[in-house]
Amino acid sequence: MKFFLDTANLAQISQAASLGVIDGVTTNPSLMAKEGVSGREVIRNHYIAICSLVDGDISAEVLATDYEGMVVEGVSLSELHPNIVVKIPCTADGIRAIKTLASRGIKTNCTLIFSVGQALLAAKAGASYVSPFVGRLDDVGADGVELVGQIVEVFARYGYPTQVLAASIRNAAHIVGCLEVGADVATCPLQPILDLLKHPLTDKGLEIFKLDTEKLR
Ligand code: E4P
Repeated sequence: MKFFLDTANLAQISQAASLGVIDGVTTNPSLMAKEGVSGREVIRNHYIAICSLVDGDISAEVLATDYEGMVVEGVSLSELHPNIVVKIPCTADGIRAIKTLASRGIKTNCTLIFSVGQALLAAKAGASYVSPFVGRLDDVGADGVELVGQIVEVFARYGYPTQVLAASIRNAAHIVGCLEVGADVATCPLQPILDLLKHPLTDKGLEIFKLDTEKLR
């Protein structure tokens, strides 16, 4: 399973990239706003900066919500860097835009997926990725990891090449859950990835090794 970093924070992207386990980055308008990135040129330069830090697919979300606007913006974003993946919301206009962009060879990530039916439409339109939102489903009492597994199974059964990119990951258990049900990618903030390292027996074992190392000097 690939790991994408789910942030627009350049310092965190650098830190995560230095771990050597990051395969891409996802952003959305909320994450960009959190970093104070605003204005067309500033946003475009921010994406170029992200592409220079991580050599992998970088999702850049369109701000338009109408078909024509999403296509124009998607084409323009895709021209920024070969690794840009145009992120499009799962609406009727979005599905049309994905179909058009895919027919022009532009990679897309269909976002705001909360059902198998939405994922199916995105895959049929030719999306490169679908992003089911695990944490937001859990927030409303549903099971986000279960949805990821259902989409993985349906895509495998019918041979859709669209990759399942588990999004809205909140903790290390979500990552492991997505791994177990066969997600192609999990996009996460840095902390849940770092939390995968934590185990009390690792800490305890390291303390013992340190004490015994003293006896070897
Ligand atoms: C990334 O593709 C999604 O936009 C992101 O994971 C959403 O995460 P959130 O539900 O924590 O806002």
